[in-house]
Amino acid sequence: MSEVDVETRLAELAVDASVCTACRLSETRTQAVFADGSSVADIMFIGEGPGFYEDREGLPFVGKAGMLLNRLLRQVGLSRADVYIANVVKCRPPGNRDPRPDEIEACKHFLVEQIKLVDPVVVMTMGNFSTKLLLNTATGITRTRGTVYPWWNRVVIPTFHPAAALRSGPAMMDTIRGDLELAVRTVRQGMEGSSPAEEEPDGGGDDPVGQQPEQLGLFG
Ligand code: URA
Repeated sequence: MSEVDVETRLAELAVDASVCTACRLSETRTQAVFADGSSVADIMFIGEGPGFYEDREGLPFVGKAGMLLNRLLRQVGLSRADVYIANVVKCRPPGNRDPRPDEIEACKHFLVEQIKLVDPVVVMTMGNFSTKLLLNTATGITRTRGTVYPWWNRVVIPTFHPAAALRSGPAMMDTIRGDLELAVRTVRQGMEGSSPAEEEPDGGGDDPVGQQPEQLGLFG
């Protein structure tokens, strides 16, 4: 598919999301928040769902967590325009509560299409919700992080959610920065023809979840 076709299809999907009424979140949203960034990005970030500022502005990660994400991106030589940023659910859960399983299920098809269309080398899942969804696991982010997961001809690199780092402090920010550096290296190695999936970040996980893409539910 050409770059223009990808852009066109993503724009159509954004319109679909803006009028979607598949779950109760449509009743309380100001607007759907579809994505930001480049449709040809090598690195795609997936958060949880829009918060207050995202709901108001119509863009993902524009509040405090977004400011931190922007800063961390800059520190590894990237800007928002270089990457693609989306969420598991496109509409704000009231009061920023966790998205519910039926809401995630109702919204999943948008994310699947976004991943297929952008076709990134690396998907960085930020926090529990996106990590659990993509890796089809109940294991939380603290245990899943630290491993590079082969995933549908690309890799998933889970990292902590920037909002968690804001609460937790500098050590977690350093960890996210390290994971971002790993993503950048992984893309570079992919371009050089070596296998990015063979590299593990510090600590390397045991018992990696979802090593076989066939076992993962998202595209099933
Ligand atoms: N947190 C998220 O998970 N996504 C956003 O867009 C903003 C905050």
